[in-house]
Amino acid sequence: MPRIRLWLATAALAVSGCGGPFPQSTLHPRSDFARATDVLFTDIFWWAAVVFVVVELLLVVALVRFRHREGRPAPKPTHGHTLMEIAWTLAPAVILVFVAVPTVRTIFATAEAPPDALKVDVIGHQWWWEFRYPELALVTANELHVPLGRTVQLSITSADVIHSFWAPQLGGKRDAIPGRVNHISFRADFVGDYSGQCAEFCGASHANMRTRVVVDSDSGFGRWATVQLAGPAAPAPGSAAERGKAVYARSACIGCHTIQGVSPGVIGPNLTHVGSRATIASGLFPNDSAHLARWIADAPAMKPGSIMTRMQPPLSDADIAALVAYLEMLK
Ligand code: CUA
Repeated sequence: MPRIRLWLATAALAVSGCGGPFPQSTLHPRSDFARATDVLFTDIFWWAAVVFVVVELLLVVALVRFRHREGRPAPKPTHGHTLMEIAWTLAPAVILVFVAVPTVRTIFATAEAPPDALKVDVIGHQWWWEFRYPELALVTANELHVPLGRTVQLSITSADVIHSFWAPQLGGKRDAIPGRVNHISFRADFVGDYSGQCAEFCGASHANMRTRVVVDSDSGFGRWATVQLAGPAAPAPGSAAERGKAVYARSACIGCHTIQGVSPGVIGPNLTHVGSRATIASGLFPNDSAHLARWIADAPAMKPGSIMTRMQPPLSDADIAALVAYLEMLK
């Protein structure tokens, strides 16, 4: 009885992996880069399968053919069989060449981009992502927008420790290393909202360092860029948002965040159009008033290690509500 239960539990565990959806599966490629990685994976999988079958076959043959039988003398050990030594050194080396050549070729191919590629500088921070579009003079955070069907070249670096940028359905990961710039390029094939994850341990909130890549239609990307390039919305006189703007301007917020024309901080994400983003805290929470209010009051409670500390002295609930109204207005 306990054995049946063990088998059932094992089967349940195995089958649970077949659920879905899989928003971060490399097996559902949605760009040229991701497809190249997928092809590579499939190739290497079949090489590995052939090696497995050959090795197991030889093992079974040896077990059956040379097993101990009554009256058979002890086997004679083989020493220094030159031909065999050469064979079992060469065979894996040849297989590794078949794995290494396409892998290295793909690594280089996916770092190159045509001259008309959309360039984006990606900067990893503890624990969020900054995106700068040099051609557009546009800066945003945590949600990378790219146009459908146009190659995008990411120049990836870090402001503090080593991170790794990875949006699995759009391509492989690449490290964000302080003082160094790594490149990847991809051309997205499908409009959609893709999630990503920092893939290099970078401290307390490494697992909370998510990202979203939004693939827009060509016109959708243009509309998004136009909105992002405009100055921040101005709150209506006498509104809660206007009070919120005053709270913002006299609080510690201005030391770390940029709101164009209001504050020049660069330690935290640019908030000029924070209201246009679907999530806050690097993709961790939905961008709604309840989460924004909690976040402003005590960010480290929601994201361990957050460099945005608790407000000291704490803001009153009325001030937080006003601040939330202001930030939500910054579409
Ligand atoms: Cu950034 Cu892990």
